[in-house]
Amino acid sequence: MSNAINPIVWQEDRVLLVDQTLLPLAYKVVEIKTYQAMADAIRTMIVRGAPAIGVAAAYGLYLGAKEIHTSDRAVFLEQLAAIAKTLGTTRPTAVNLFWAIERVLSTVQNAQGDVPALQALILSTAKDIHGEDLATCQAIGDRGLAVLPQTPEKLTILTHCNAGALATAGYGTALGVIRSAWRENRLGMVYADETRPRLQGSKLTTWECVQEGIPVTQICDNMAAHCMQQGRIDAVVVGADRITANGDAANKIGTYSLAIVAKAHNVPFYVAAPLSTVDFSLSDGSQIPIEERDPKEIYQIGDTRICPEGVQFYNPAFDVTPAHLITAIITEKGAVSPDQLITLKA
Ligand code: MRU
Repeated sequence: MSNAINPIVWQEDRVLLVDQTLLPLAYKVVEIKTYQAMADAIRTMIVRGAPAIGVAAAYGLYLGAKEIHTSDRAVFLEQLAAIAKTLGTTRPTAVNLFWAIERVLSTVQNAQGDVPALQALILSTAKDIHGEDLATCQAIGDRGLAVLPQTPEKLTILTHCNAGALATAGYGTALGVIRSAWRENRLGMVYADETRPRLQGSKLTTWECVQEGIPVTQICDNMAAHCMQQGRIDAVVVGADRITANGDAANKIGTYSLAIVAKAHNVPFYVAAPLSTVDFSLSDGSQIPIEERDPKEIYQIGDTRICPEGVQFYNPAFDVTPAHLITAIITEKGAVSPDQLITLKA
């Protein structure tokens, strides 16, 4: 169960990505052979989710690096920096993208050896980032399970967007906690917010649950308050794209309103994320760049326009949940209250 869904696979000289824009209607694997194709795949959300785009960018750096034809180390590093810049301009909010790029670049800069050795080192670093993410998510899942509320009945957990296997190397952060609860026979039901406008909840989270036989109920985003008022929800668990030093957490648009609603109903609200999602260089969430996407995501369903002409649109892809609304942040090193996050910095 733990690694049934592999959204990213390295194969000889290319990366295989499950095209997440097509699920659940079609399961198609696309082959990525160049860094430009990888940048496009991240931008168009063929691959998405904070840890997954970090892994993808690391492989993208290798795909670019192996096309650099020089024996001069300085020239190689200069061209590698340009490739990193292209990959880094794809999506601004998830810090894992920049974390992975920085990790590859600093590994190479600090290494000895000729260009072929540096190219090989980039690939092995990308594979490390990939492999570590799977182990990290499994640890998050198990750490999260330990802090979930103890209830007489099995738990009902609400989640938003998709922070699952598809969004990581294969186990998930928020869905990792849910997977661990399922494995330990503590889960009764997942409620999946549909997650407008791109519907990652209804398209991807439900798909993942169905693949593994995890019971799932889909609701529209505006039904969460009603479900909590009815006492249907024991806990909310979501992922994150960037968490700042004070514990504020950026995640998919709609997460903030969900946290407010959870607070109003005394429902614990957990953010599950690897430490690579924590940006200790930012003191609070107001400093997080929020991606704005094409308004078509709002005014079109498929190819059909659903709004009249003459309307203006605002399409922020993420929002910031303030630390005071978060019960605990669950990382691979344990679950802490947001004000204790800084203790994990070392
Ligand atoms: O725009 P997306 O689909 O990349 O947004 C994804 C999310 O907001 C996830 O919750 C977050 O990246 C955590 S994934 C483990």
